[in-house]
Amino acid sequence: MLNIKRYLVTAALPYANGPLHIGHLTGAYIPADIYVRYLRLCGEDVKFVCGSDEHGAAITIRAKQEGITPRQIIDKYHEINRRAFAQIGISFDVYHRTSDALHHKTSQEVFKQLFDRGVFTEKETEQYYDEEFKQFLADRYITGTCPRCGNENAYGDQCEKCGSSLSPTDLINPKSTLSGQQPVLKPTRHWYLPMNRYEAWVKNWIEDAQNLEPWKKHVLGQCRSWVEQGLQERAMTRDLDWGVPVPLPGAEGKALYVWLDAPIGYISATKALLPNNWQTYWQDEHTKLVHFIGKDNIVFHCIIFPIILHALGNYTLPVNIPANQFMNLEGDKMSTSRNYAVWLHEYLTHFPGKEDVLRYVLTVNMPEQKDSDFSWADFQARNNNELVAILGNLVNRVLVLMHKYFNGKLPHIPPAARQAIQPQAQEVFTALQTMPKQLHTFIHNYEFRNALNAVMDVARAGNKFLTDTEPWKLYKQQPDETAAILGVCLELVAWLGVYLEPFLPFTAAKIAGFINLGQQDKAAVLQGTYAIAEGTTVNQPELLFEKIDDTAIAAQVQRLAEAKAAYEAAKNPDAAATDATPATEPLETPAEYVAVKELIQYDDFAKLDLRIATVLDAQKVPKADKLLQLTLDLGFEQRTVVSGIAMHYQPEEVVGRQVLLLANLAPRKLRGIDSHGMILMADSRGKLIFVAPDAAATNGSVVS
Ligand code: 2FM
Ligand code: ZN
Repeated sequence: MLNIKRYLVTAALPYANGPLHIGHLTGAYIPADIYVRYLRLCGEDVKFVCGSDEHGAAITIRAKQEGITPRQIIDKYHEINRRAFAQIGISFDVYHRTSDALHHKTSQEVFKQLFDRGVFTEKETEQYYDEEFKQFLADRYITGTCPRCGNENAYGDQCEKCGSSLSPTDLINPKSTLSGQQPVLKPTRHWYLPMNRYEAWVKNWIEDAQNLEPWKKHVLGQCRSWVEQGLQERAMTRDLDWGVPVPLPGAEGKALYVWLDAPIGYISATKALLPNNWQTYWQDEHTKLVHFIGKDNIVFHCIIFPIILHALGNYTLPVNIPANQFMNLEGDKMSTSRNYAVWLHEYLTHFPGKEDVLRYVLTVNMPEQKDSDFSWADFQARNNNELVAILGNLVNRVLVLMHKYFNGKLPHIPPAARQAIQPQAQEVFTALQTMPKQLHTFIHNYEFRNALNAVMDVARAGNKFLTDTEPWKLYKQQPDETAAILGVCLELVAWLGVYLEPFLPFTAAKIAGFINLGQQDKAAVLQGTYAIAEGTTVNQPELLFEKIDDTAIAAQVQRLAEAKAAYEAAKNPDAAATDATPATEPLETPAEYVAVKELIQYDDFAKLDLRIATVLDAQKVPKADKLLQLTLDLGFEQRTVVSGIAMHYQPEEVVGRQVLLLANLAPRKLRGIDSHGMILMADSRGKLIFVAPDAAATNGSVVS
């Protein structure tokens, strides 16, 4: 592409059906934000658009699970996600939503234009239908076995395991996600995008794109393999009452396919941002359009949406789609349905003020070429050994020394003193000179891990310079050289205040504030002409980063273990239902009571070993408001149980009581203490009350 005049950067519109987790962030939003912030730093004209994807089965299925309307679901999660993105510093120019009237109008216009141009084919076909729910089953409403990889939980439109794009009729053993029943086939009429007609065009377009800017290997590999398998026609409409209505007479009850309307959301968002000027970004050959997505979205952004833009005729096509792979969590796949993830909104409350720590860890571990892993131990180590020990330590040392020796004001530095430190300073200046070029190359190659490391190398060079020159040993004898050394360090700190901005925007702003770096100074840094002026004052430093201790990390690891255990526990009733015994309807519970769980068989209950025990001793668990450590007498043994009752009972109220103990629960570590069992409590409208025998019973008695 010649003569780029502006950039339009999109990040995948997240479904407003749940909160964001760190996999989403590192997959699409952090890389997009780094790219955009860097372009802005370089003075480029760039617009960054995103918003909530509010249609499709992802939303309606979630609404059904929570027993509320799709509108309530999207309003809830749009707001949670919008706020969480803002808090972690994702700098969208607009965060729109696909339920907005502007988007409905835009996507209907696109559909109508394609229809008027004769792009679609209209067909009546037999499609799967759930007779119990009286609904056609497309996309996520149907699951089955993937014909390509054998994954038993593939969706009707896609297998998330192998990435294949599917039709419901491709699935082996299809099952309705509404009723769980095998669906029947029924005729229905829809509009199709005949992708097969565009196969040659897509093939050439993908190969030509490589001449403008190479695509990531795994993206190109996936695209080539799809095209080689042959493109199939794909329905662009669905029988659904939630979505953008199909703007044609006689199409009542039909909505646009969510993967048609969602990417058009990028256009609507741009229109919302620039009502009079959006065409400049979408219909001008000098716009560079880049889509940031996760690998599960590749086919939609690299094949289907480009075909639509091409078929419209006058739209900008993406230059690159630098999709990331997936990030695992402690070696396991992150999963919304299993609640196995680090949720962004929870992180923000558990680690207030540590937004940049997460940005840092998600950047250095970004799954750019292959899947990566997030672990809490690595998070702690990156914070303590890199952010605290390298970056924070450098900035802090320089500012503390400036105040200690020069009252925070850089004195006159005689030329001889500059000369004297020149040999060691040369290494720092070389690092400062080479970094911007490296950074530029890395950012434009979408290598954000390398890019951040290139900037961190400057901090490393600064620490080495301080260690080599040891100004604290020089000051008494050679105050001029000490000033010269700190002058070099301050220059380096200024570069960090500028070049860290795309990665760690909160930290960069603090650094710039410490040394009173104004707009002109920043411009000078970017031009490579910045030199710290004598007389410059610096402010008192605050710590940029603090060490994260083991307790905070253990609490997160524990949370993940609990999420896994809860998922397994919730899964067991399903396993029981597959038993030969006929399933019985669970009891109905009035709304003001907690619903009775699914029915279990006697054998399930018989696995529980319930015993009477007496509390011999009770202690508060340090730094855990809710926990008491109890020593119990079971007659035949004494054991320790950690119980979450400290908000309801003081230790002295508990000692001497008889309690009911689940004695064969597998031991768990709670705040470092091994807990052997669980005390059973009644939750009486929020107050926990002991369940005990109504007369003294022998410790160790079996309860059945
Ligand atoms: O996978 C997802 O979360 C989709 N909601 C992404 C949509 S991206 C774009 F097309 F809007
Ligand atoms: Zn598959």
